[in-house]
Amino acid sequence: MVSTCVLLLNAGHEATVNTTGNGWWALFRHPDQLAALRADPALLPRAIEELMRYDTPLQLFERWVLDDIEIDGTPIPRGSEVALLFGSANHDPARFPDPDRLDLTRVDNPHLSFGAGIHYCLGAPLARLELATVFGELLRQAPGLRLVSEPRWKPGFVIRGLRELLVEC
Ligand code: HEM
Repeated sequence: MVSTCVLLLNAGHEATVNTTGNGWWALFRHPDQLAALRADPALLPRAIEELMRYDTPLQLFERWVLDDIEIDGTPIPRGSEVALLFGSANHDPARFPDPDRLDLTRVDNPHLSFGAGIHYCLGAPLARLELATVFGELLRQAPGLRLVSEPRWKPGFVIRGLRELLVEC
């Protein structure tokens, strides 16, 4: 019970916080997109999916391979440990047209930021609700929100997030 609560707290807190920081940092770097979102709040659900794709908060998860498989000509034997690079998959040009462009109107956006398969994020619906609330309320209540200084990143390459994002109204 205790470890389940710890998992829910850790899994539920950090990724949502980082999605929020990374997302606002992406919006500040793309003022045309931020202006479009401010002008049309109905864009928000799509915008959140795109912000999650564009700057993926959980970059890497590992798996142990249960059967011999081959992916794109590369054999991967049973028992191997593989690192799944969600951030890289989210910028795959074979799946996302113009993947390095932030496009809040992107429609076909099957990003992997919540993972896939049996370990697909248990909290995805809650995370989407939290993100819609935090982005929606900040857009509504702080329409002049702007960046004060370039942010610093936390160390590490698995969890991608900012140490802080200094803003003013
Ligand atoms: C934007 C926010 C979030 C992101 C980007 C995110 C991302 C992920 C990813 C990528 C996985 C798959 C891990 C794997 O493949 O091994 C995962 C699993 C999980 N997430 Fe989230 N998550 C978020 C929010 C939440 C929230 C709010 C909760 C719960 C309150 C939560 C609970 C979990 C749990 C329990 C798992 C493990 C599921 C399993 O192994 O079966 N997550 N999440």
